[in-house]
Amino acid sequence: MKEQLKKIEELAKAELASCTEIKSLDELRIRYLGKKGELTAILKQMGKLSAEERPVVGQLANKVRADIEEALSEKLSALKASAQAAKIAAESIDITLPGKPQTIGKLHPLSKVENEIRDIFMGMGFNIADGPEVDDDYHVFEALNLPPDHPARDTQDTFYINDKILLRTQTSSVQVHVMETQKPPIRIISPGRVYRSDAVDATHSPLFHQIEGLVVDKGIKMSDLKGTLEMLMKKLYGNNCKLRFRPHHFPFTEPSCEVDIMCFNCGGKGCSMCKDEGYIELLGAGMVHPKVLEGCGIDSSIYSGFAFGLGLERMVMGRYSINDLRLLYENDVRFLEQF
Ligand code: PHE
Repeated sequence: MKEQLKKIEELAKAELASCTEIKSLDELRIRYLGKKGELTAILKQMGKLSAEERPVVGQLANKVRADIEEALSEKLSALKASAQAAKIAAESIDITLPGKPQTIGKLHPLSKVENEIRDIFMGMGFNIADGPEVDDDYHVFEALNLPPDHPARDTQDTFYINDKILLRTQTSSVQVHVMETQKPPIRIISPGRVYRSDAVDATHSPLFHQIEGLVVDKGIKMSDLKGTLEMLMKKLYGNNCKLRFRPHHFPFTEPSCEVDIMCFNCGGKGCSMCKDEGYIELLGAGMVHPKVLEGCGIDSSIYSGFAFGLGLERMVMGRYSINDLRLLYENDVRFLEQF
């Protein structure tokens, strides 16, 4: 019987050594140590033994059981460890591989130049004002000294919603909104979209952007307008840029002017970009008409002001030598990437 026990231990250990799966360990345990297992079968025959032999064999049997159990649990931990190692190896990430680059968007050139202009004016103590893009006839025209039959209305082909409501054709409407709600001193700019019923070509679009400026205070003069605009353009285009103020007419400013900048391309000599003029028109401006001030409840005998409206697209096109306005709206990434 002792031999049988030894044999069982040897066989169990040999089988265990060649085990590679946790599942087969369980089978092995049942086969050797289970109720119907080989070791149990031997113990059942213990009755046949003599009183002296019984404790010796019993002890040996217990030892064999303990040994096999220990070997089983050792093997179990070894198999678990190698399964874990294999899992880690299979799931590991190779951090030396190059990552997938993320393409980061950037600001549209219109936004970039608008932000620059905002910063320059904020530096001069201006606030930013906002106004509605869908507005009424009063704020876009009438309050700006453009009564219903005024011929200057014809130059702004307007999108009407109905007789009274329209898409604003100029940010000058914000002048009125601001003067209705704020008392002088007023110092604001108002960037925004405007709409005119124009056919699309290289220099026209039914939607474009203006930046309105308005200053109202005691003793504001034309020279303040000149100084402000010169400061803006020098900051934007460098100290060598040259402005030209030409007399013009706007119903809501008196006197009025248009302001041109010396052509970026030819330096005033004349080229295709400036249509041989040497200068490029940038904006309209003037001293706020007393009628406009009075209409907004501001006493024109005490206060005066200047206003200007500049075309953002034109500034951007000059800045980056873009010769077709449509490029700014097509959102072709190959174009936008360049700024
Ligand atoms: N609103 C005018 C335009 O669209 C520009 C302008 C603004 C002129 C303010 C004078 C004062 O042409």
